[in-house]
Order: sequence, then C-alpha cells, then structure tokens
Amino acid sequence: MSETLLDIEGLHVRFGGMHAVRGTALKVQRGETHCLVGESGCGKSVSALAVMNLLSRGARRDATRMEFMGQDLLGLSESGMSKLRGDAMAMIFQEPMTSLNPAYTVGSQMAEVYTRHRGGSRNAALLRAAALLAKVGITAPEMRLAQYPHQLSGGLRQRVMIAMALMCDPKLLIADEPTTALDVTVQAQILRLLLELQRELGLAVLLITHDLGIVARMAHRVSVMYAGEVVESAPAEALFAAPTHPYTRGLLECVPVPGRVRRDEKLGSIPGTVPRVREGFAGCGFRERCSQAMAECAGTIPARERVPEHRYLCRLAPDWRAA
Ligand SMILES: Nc1ncnc2c1ncn2[C@@H]1O[C@H](COP(=O)(O)OP(=O)(O)O)[C@@H](O)[C@H]1O
Ligand SMILES: [Mg+2]
Repeated sequence: MSETLLDIEGLHVRFGGMHAVRGTALKVQRGETHCLVGESGCGKSVSALAVMNLLSRGARRDATRMEFMGQDLLGLSESGMSKLRGDAMAMIFQEPMTSLNPAYTVGSQMAEVYTRHRGGSRNAALLRAAALLAKVGITAPEMRLAQYPHQLSGGLRQRVMIAMALMCDPKLLIADEPTTALDVTVQAQILRLLLELQRELGLAVLLITHDLGIVARMAHRVSVMYAGEVVESAPAEALFAAPTHPYTRGLLECVPVPGRVRRDEKLGSIPGTVPRVREGFAGCGFRERCSQAMAECAGTIPARERVPEHRYLCRLAPDWRAA
C-alpha cells in the first residue's frame, strides 16, 4: 500500500524579484526512492530547503499545501520544525562540511542529534552512533567517533553524514546531490549504500541529482524540474519508456541510458541555458529552448496526464511524438 509521506502543491519561493520556485508539486510515497532531476539552477535545492524551512533570510515561501506525514508544515513554528528536522525528516548535502561542525568530534555531533530529539544518556547515543557508522560501512567506528571532520576523507564524511541522518530513524531522507563532490568510485559506493539503506530500513529517499544515470539505476519515481516547476513526474519505468515533456526528452537524449541510445547516435545536449525567472514571468519556462514551442506556450500551461500517475506540464498532446 502506498502512503504519501510528503505532499507538496503550489510551492512558490521568491528571492526579491526572482521567482525561483513557481508552483512546484511533489509527492513522496513511503519507502520509495524519488529522484528530483534537472539542470543546475532549476530550483531543486531551493525546493528541498523550502520543505526543511532552511531557506536563507529574505526568501519568501508559500504553498497551497505542504504536508509531511499528514502534518501541515506551513503552519509549523520554527521550534515545531526543528523537532522534525533530524528526526522524522533528515537531509544530507553535497558538501558534508556545510553541516558538520569542524569544532566537534564526529561522536559528539552524532550523539547530540540523538539526545536532543530522544533524550537518554550520551553513552547510549554514542553506542548507537558507533553501530550506525558500522552500518554505513565505516571500519573501526569507535576510533572515528573520536575524530574531527577534517580528519576524514570526503567519502568518509559523506558516510558520517548519512549515519548521522539515520540517528533518529527518519521516515524521509532528502539527499541533495550527495555524491557530486566525490570521485567516481566513491560516488558509486555511496549510492549503493543509499540504495541498501532505503531497502533495508524502508526509508523514503528524495534524491536530488542532475545525473540521469543515477536516476535510471535508483529511482522508483522521477520528477523533472525546469525553471522552478516540476514539468513531468512519473514512475521511473514510465518516464524512461515514454518521456513526454520536451525538456525530459532533451535531457534523456543527453545521456547514455542503457538500451536507449544507439551506438552510432551522437549524444546531444539541449542548446541554450536555464533561465533565471523574474517575478511576472508567465508561460512555459522551456519555450525558448523548445523545438516544439508554439504561441500558446507563453500562456497558461495545462497539467496533463499521459496515463494515470504520469503527469506533465505542456500544451502538447500525450502522443505528440507519434504525430
Ligand atoms: N539565496 C538565494 N538568493 C537569490 N537567488 C537564489 C538563492 N538561492 C538560489 N537562488 C536562485 O534560485 C534558482 C534555483 O536555484 P537552486 O534551487 O539552487 O537550483 P538547483 O539546485 O536546481 O541547481 C537559481 O536561479 C538560483 O540562482
Ligand atoms: Mg542544487
């Protein structure tokens, strides 16, 4: 049975005159790996930070709906939100040093998260921390607990971040480009770890990435973001079998997804760049780069369903490729 953990509709984030997130809708089901993809600057991180209420000062956030496990996040006070953060909902970032404090040992930071949310003794928390370090593949966990973040390699730091995020048994883990800063072999190890944890613990993972190879290997569901909107969302299989939004199709043509790209076919890239959207911008954000664009694309864009569960934002009919 699927159960919606995170339910977002009509999310807007504004920074002064910039409209970074424009009506995003996103649903994450319990236990699924949901990949949020799109080129750099599309609004993926800002959307995630909006959920965690970690946007910088000066950002304005509003939404039609923003619920986590049935709880309204919009009406939640900062103290209510900090009870959720690191507990039922945890986040890991591209650069672990942004969330690890260089002044404290790994052990004291991991223990602090646990005692803050769950109470209990520091020793009990340290025992749990050691067990979780072992779980994320770190050998000699007791020794690591006594170390400072700068004494660890990038890959180890990311493992520590993941272990720390698991301290309170989250239902949802938001991972924002968690492997981008790591070298390729370490990336693969960390992704495999996330996949194993997701399966074993029944975690829901909202995995933000611009790497469609990762998506093809890991996602149950994919949401594609462009210029502040989720322009297409579908179960992974459906998305790869029948990408419908021209932006999704452009993205897929840019990467060698196994079985999709013929050997003699040149890998394409979408000409142009992601626009920074100003307040007052209307219509489809992709129209300047879209080979299918028509006059109507400057107006309101209907949300269509190709088949149930496969939604996209475009004026084209679901079968436009066949035409
Ligand atoms: N603190 C901020 N102030 C102003 N603009 C911002 C801020 N953070 C992000 N943005 C803008 O919001 C847009 C979306 O950014 P972001 O969510 O970081 O993109 P992504 O994670 O998809 O690469 C970008 O145009 C970015 O420049
Ligand atoms: Mg980002």
